[in-house]
Amino acid sequence: MSAAFVRYVGAMRPLVPLLLASAAVASCDGDYTAQQTTAVSIAQAIVAACPLAAPDDAAARQQCADRLTAMTALRDVMGEPFRWGQQAQLWRYDLADSKTTNFNPRVFRRMYLSLFMFTGAYTMDQSGDLTVVHLPYQFRNGLDPGAYPYPFWHNPSKWRDYQLATEMHLVFRDGRMVGALRSAVRLNWRPATVRTWDGQWNWADGGEPRVSLYRNLFSPTNPYIDRVDEAYRALEGAMRPYNCLACHRPDNAAQSNPLELFSYPNQALVARHAIRQQLEQNRMPPNTGITDDAERQQLLGLARAFEAAADQALDAESEPDPARDLDAGR
Ligand code: HEC
Repeated sequence: MSAAFVRYVGAMRPLVPLLLASAAVASCDGDYTAQQTTAVSIAQAIVAACPLAAPDDAAARQQCADRLTAMTALRDVMGEPFRWGQQAQLWRYDLADSKTTNFNPRVFRRMYLSLFMFTGAYTMDQSGDLTVVHLPYQFRNGLDPGAYPYPFWHNPSKWRDYQLATEMHLVFRDGRMVGALRSAVRLNWRPATVRTWDGQWNWADGGEPRVSLYRNLFSPTNPYIDRVDEAYRALEGAMRPYNCLACHRPDNAAQSNPLELFSYPNQALVARHAIRQQLEQNRMPPNTGITDDAERQQLLGLARAFEAAADQALDAESEPDPARDLDAGR
C-alpha cells in the first residue's frame, strides 16, 4: 500500500481519512478539489439511481438503466472511450495496469453499470492525479441470459469475479471519469451462481442478447435505429472474411489491451471512428492489412456508412463525441 493514498469515508461530511500516512492532507477539513467534488456528486447520483433489489429483479434493472442513461451529469463527465475491466492488482487504479475493454459511454451506463446494485455507501481515494471512488456493490446475477451484454459465463472465472468482487472503482482523471474497475478484492462467501456456456455468442437469430441491440440502447423515438443497425450488419458481415471478429470479440484471442468488441451492435459503437481509420491506413488485420485494394475500399465504404449512421444516432440522443468535436475544431 502506498503512502500516497488517502481514503475518505462517504457521505458528505465530516471527511475521515482512513489510511492517512502523510500529514499533508488539506481535504480533512472538507476542501475537496474540483475533481473530488465531481467524483462525490457522481457517486451519490449513481448509488441513488440503482439501490439494492433482488438479483433477478428485471424491472429494477430496467429502472436503474433508464436513470443512468438519462443522467446528464454522468453522461457529460464520462470520456470516450470509457474503459472497463477487472482490477489486476490491489491498490493499482491506473487503467493501464489492468486489462480493460473500451466502450461508448452510453453503452457502459445503460448495459453494464445497470447490472450493479449499490448499497449507498462509498469511499474516495486520491492517488497522484487520480481520484477513485469505491462503490460497494451486489451484482444482478439472476437475470435471464439475454439481459447480459454477452454470456460473461463463457469464462467461468469472469462470471465468478463479477459476483465476488466487493466494489466498483470509478476512476477520475483531468476532471473526467475515464474508466471503472471491478475490485481485485473478492470474497468467496458472496452469493454466486454457476452458469454453463453452450458455446453460442448469439442466439434467437441474433435477437439475443437483446440488450446489445441498438433498439435497447436508443430511445424508441430515435429515427436512426434501423439505419445504424443495417449499417452495422453490413459491416459486420463484410469484416468476417478478414477475421476481424475472431480477434475483436470477448474471448480476446489476440490479447488486445484495451480490447474493442465488434461482435455485438452496441459494443461496436466505440470503434466507429477507429475502424474507418484503421482501414484507411490499411493497418488491420495486423501485419498484413488487406492486400486487395478494391476489397479494402469496399470495406472502407461500409465502415464510413456505419460511422455516419452511428454518429447520427448518438447525436439524436445528445451524446457528446469528444473525438469528432475535436476533429471539427469545436
Ligand atoms: C489477429 C487478431 C486481429 C485481427 C484478425 C484483427 N485485429 Fe484489429 N486489433 C488487434 C489487436 C491486437 C489490436 C490492438 C493492438 C494494435 O493496435 O495493434 C487491434 C486494434 C484494432 C483497432 C483499434 C485501433 C485503435 O487503437 O484505435 C481497430 C479499430 C481494429 N483493430 C480494427 C480491425 C479490423 C477492421 C479488422 C479486420 C479487417 C481487424 N482489426 C482484425 C487484433 C486483430
